[in-house]
Amino acid sequence: MKLFDVYPLYEIEPVKAKGCSVWDKNGTQYLDFYGGHAVISIGHSHPHYIKTISDQLQNIGFYSNSVLNQLQNKVAEKLGRLSGYHDYTFFFCNSGAEANENALKLASFTNKRHKVLAYKKAFHGRTSGTVAVTDNPSIISPFNASHQVEFVGLDDLETTKSILSKGDVAAVIIEGIQGVGGIHVPDNTFLTGLLEICTQTGTLLILDEIQSGYGRSGKFFAHQFAGIRPDLITVAKGMGNGFPVAGVLISPAIEASPGLLGTTFGGNHLACAAAQSVLDVFENEQLIKNAATTGAYLKHRAREIKGVKSIRGLGLMIGLEFEPEIVDIRRKLLFDHHIFTGYSGKNTLRLLPPLCITIAEIDHLIDSLKIITENLN
Ligand SMILES: Cc1ncc(COP(=O)(O)O)c(C=O)c1O
Repeated sequence: MKLFDVYPLYEIEPVKAKGCSVWDKNGTQYLDFYGGHAVISIGHSHPHYIKTISDQLQNIGFYSNSVLNQLQNKVAEKLGRLSGYHDYTFFFCNSGAEANENALKLASFTNKRHKVLAYKKAFHGRTSGTVAVTDNPSIISPFNASHQVEFVGLDDLETTKSILSKGDVAAVIIEGIQGVGGIHVPDNTFLTGLLEICTQTGTLLILDEIQSGYGRSGKFFAHQFAGIRPDLITVAKGMGNGFPVAGVLISPAIEASPGLLGTTFGGNHLACAAAQSVLDVFENEQLIKNAATTGAYLKHRAREIKGVKSIRGLGLMIGLEFEPEIVDIRRKLLFDHHIFTGYSGKNTLRLLPPLCITIAEIDHLIDSLKIITENLN
C-alpha cells in the first residue's frame, strides 16, 4: 500500500535528535528552528523524558478511562500549579483539533447555543467543528461548512460586540498568538474587552493555546500577557514534546457529568509520563524564562537582517516578514546552512525552536540569514 499523498516533502529523513539538533540518515546535523511545528518544547531526546517514558512502559503503557489512573491527576495538578490555573479542571485528549472540538462542544453544551465567532486568518484544526472555525475555505468540505460560524478581523472589538450582543453565540475561539496566519499577537486591550463582552452576553471564551501555549510566548500562556482568564483553554503540541497528548483547561463554573465527553486514548499512561516529564523539565530548567530572554535576543538581532520589514511575536514564537518571498531563503537555510524553519504565507519566516535554544544557536541562525540575504538580488 502507498501513502495517501497529502504532504509536500523535503528530501531529508531525520533519524536521530538531541537538544535543538536533528541528524539525517547520512549523519548531517541540522539546527531545529521549527521544533517539528512548535511541538518540541524541552528539546529532542531529553534524558529525563526518555527515562520517564521508558520506566512507565516497563510497568503499564495503557489502560482505559474506565479505571483509576493517578498519573492523570499528577499531571493536572502540576499543570494547574505551573500555569496558574490550579482551580480549573482538565480533560485529556490526543491532538490539538480534538482539544478545540471538545472545547467548542463544551461551550455549546453549557449555553445551548449553536453559533461560533472566530477570527480572520485563524487556524484551529481539521476536524468537523475546528476546520469550520478555521479561516481557509480550501480545507473546508461541504460537510464541514454547515456549522454556523462568523469571522471577524483580529482586534475588531466593535464588530465582535455587535455580533455577540444578539445573545445567540455559543463561543468565541481565538488563538493566543495566530500561528498559521502569520504570527499576529492580539492586542491586550482587545482581549480584556473581548472577555468583558463574552461575560456580559453569556458567550464562552475559548483560548486556543495549542501553538502559543506551554511557555512558548515567554509566559505559560500567551493570553496571560493581557491578564485575562478565559472559560476554556486548549493545549497540545508542546505538552508532550512529540508524544501525542492534548487537553482542555476548564473553568470551575463549567460542571462535568458522566459521559459528557470521552476518549479511548486520551490521558493514557504513556501520554501522562510524557506530559509529566515535560512539566518537570519546565520547572527544573526554567524553560519559560529562557523562551522570554532568548526570544527577545532573537528579535533584537533580527533587525540586522536585510529585507526584513516586520518582526512579530512573543518569546520563541517569532515571525520575520521579508520584502521578498522567502521560498529561496528557506531552501538555502535548509540545504546550505542546515537549519530547519517554518513559514506563514509567502513572505513570513516562522521560527518555533525548542524552548532550550541557546544564544549561540540564535547567533548561528542570524549569521546564516545575513549571509543568505546579503547575496539575494
Ligand atoms: C493554533 C492551532 N490550533 C489547532 C491546531 C491543530 O492541532 P493538531 O494538528 O494537533 O490537531 C494547530 C496545529 O497546527 C494550531 O496551530
